[in-house]
Formats: sequence, C-alpha cells, structure tokens
Amino acid sequence: MKAFVTGGCGQIGSHVIEMLLERGDEVLTIDNLATGRREHLEDHNNLRVVIGTVVDKKLIDELVSDFRPDVLIHTAASYKDPEDWYNDTMTNCVGGANVITAAKAFGVGRFIYFQTSLCYGLKPLHQPIRLDHPKLPATSSYAISKTTNEDYLQISGLDHVIFRLANVVGPRNVAGPLPIFYQRLRDHKPCFITRSRRDFVFVKDLAHIVLKACDGMGYGAYHFSSGKDIAIKDLYDAVVKAMKLEEYPEPEIRDIGPDDTFSILLDPSRTFADFGEIKFTSIEETVSSAIAYYEKHGTMGEYTHLRFEKKK
Ligand SMILES: NC(=O)c1ccc[n+]([C@@H]2O[C@H](COP(=O)([O-])OP(=O)(O)OC[C@H]3O[C@@H](n4cnc5c(N)ncnc54)[C@H](O)[C@@H]3O)[C@@H](O)[C@H]2O)c1
Repeated sequence: MKAFVTGGCGQIGSHVIEMLLERGDEVLTIDNLATGRREHLEDHNNLRVVIGTVVDKKLIDELVSDFRPDVLIHTAASYKDPEDWYNDTMTNCVGGANVITAAKAFGVGRFIYFQTSLCYGLKPLHQPIRLDHPKLPATSSYAISKTTNEDYLQISGLDHVIFRLANVVGPRNVAGPLPIFYQRLRDHKPCFITRSRRDFVFVKDLAHIVLKACDGMGYGAYHFSSGKDIAIKDLYDAVVKAMKLEEYPEPEIRDIGPDDTFSILLDPSRTFADFGEIKFTSIEETVSSAIAYYEKHGTMGEYTHLRFEKKK
C-alpha cells in the first residue's frame, strides 16, 4: 500500500508511519516542523520526508499526483498559539482543503482525519458524548478551523474515516498537561492542576486502529476514546511516579478556566462495534513511555490551545 501522511513528524503521524513501514508499505510525508521534529522519523528505504507545508497547493497537488497514494492520512494541524488565527486558518482550513481536493483530483481511495473533541463545544449537551451530538466549535480558533476541515471532508464524497479523539498521549506528545508537568517538575517549578478530568489514550493504541482504517475498516465518524476519564491530578501523580521524584513542589489546584471544560467523555461504542474491542494501554505504562521519551529528547515548550495564563 502507498500512504501519504501529512504531519508525519508529529506524535500521531510518526507512530502511524512506523507501523506502516514495519509491514512493508510505502510512505510519503510532508511536515513543516511547526510542532513536529524531523528526528521522530528514522530514515527508511520506503519513506520520503518532504519538509514543506500543506498550505502550498501546488506542492500538495504535485506530491499527490506523482505518488498516487492509496490512502491519505491527514494529521497535520496548527494549534500551538490560541491567538494565531491566521496560521490555524491557513493550515487547518486552507491546507485541509488542499489535501482533500488533491485526494479527490488524483483518485485517492481513502482519507483518514483526526478531529478534536472540542468540536462539541465546552458545555456538551450530554455525556458521554454520542456521535450525533451537534458540532458546536465556536469556542476556539483550533476547534473552529479543525471542524471546517472535517466539514469539507464530509461533503467531499471521498471514502473517509474520521477519528474524533480523546487526549492522545505517549512518546512525542508535545502539547497539553503531560509535557508541561514533566518539564516543570524537571525544572523544580510548581505546577497548577485544574479540577477537571480527561480520557487519556495511548498513541500506539490509536495507530493500530488507524492501520485498520487504512485497510478499509469503518466508514464515517468515530470516537477514539476509552470511555473512562481520570482526574488531571491522577495524571500528575503518574508523572511524579514515573519520574521517580522524592521531593517536588506541591501543585496548586485551580478551578477550570472559561475556555476549559470539566470533562469531555466520548462514547466509543461505534468504534468497538466496527473495529472490535480495544485493549487500552494503562495510564502508568502510557506515562512511563512518554517520560522515557522526554528524558531522551526533551519537551518543546508549553503548547496548549487553552488561553489560561501561563506561569513563569
Ligand atoms: N493528540 C491529541 O490528543 C489530539 C486530540 C484531538 C485531535 N488531534 C489531531 O490529531 C492530529 C495529530 O495530532 P498530534 O498529537 O500528532 O500533534 P502533533 O503536533 O504532534 O502533529 C501535528 C504535525 O503537523 C505538522 N504541521 C503543522 N502545520 C503543518 C503544515 N502547515 N504543513 C505540514 N505539516 C504541518 C506539525 O509540525 C506536526 O508534526 C492533528 O490533526 C490534531 O488536531 C490530536
């Protein structure tokens, strides 16, 4: 199989690529290194890495028409600055439209997309959230632009699978609480913890399901989630344990901010029905593997699409 992966130097893209290469598939990827790292992908005879942007329509058309992929796995996304509406729009809306139209124009058989659960808004009408929950993304630039990309895909007529994701973490995770907790604890700085809960899932568990989707399993929108959440404090404790810290600053517990939400629990029943039961990796194992990655490669700052005030 030939797979074109956008954002292949990122967390999800690089794990999917490794699994595709392992089973003998041929992979082309494009990444602008906005949040990804080139070293996330080892050189391989069946892999071509292009450093460039999905915003470049001419380049995307050329790559897709020359490579003629069977499947297009679109993981590239902009999210690192909540005030940077320009880049979110360029990458997620314009870039997303470029990738979808190229897939249509050059006969790509399947398109796989990754959506944020923030597409349901900060105050979901019911929880666990079912797939028929209305999309209410008008709370952040990230959610608006990612939802536009998903909407284009849904009207494209392409054979597609959309994974609306719980919090995907593990090695190469550069955004959200896990790298922030690690870096601040490593720097002996205090952390703050919001009174909220999240469903954390391991990136390799997702990548396995993505490969099944590449091979033709499923159609339409799915939740990739375990359906069970944990307190952010439990994640913090797992980081402290994995770092084997004996002394560390006491975290400050804060109420959730205006652009945050207590919990976003996604109902995974359609995923289990169509893809089979998923044996989710434990939070301890997930966090340990992420910490092992940070120990070796460091983190990349404190990216989050939330607008809370960052502590110095
Ligand atoms: N990780 C999660 O919990 C989560 C949750 C919901 C949705 N998602 C979605 O999953 C996808 C992958 O997320 P991830 O966790 O791997 O993030 P990531 O930041 O590790 O990967 C995104 C990759 O896209 C690249 N990129 C950004 N703009 C680009 C552009 N204009 N052209 C080419 N490449 C570009 C980045 O450099 C990065 O390598 C994204 O679409 C994201 O919106 C992730």
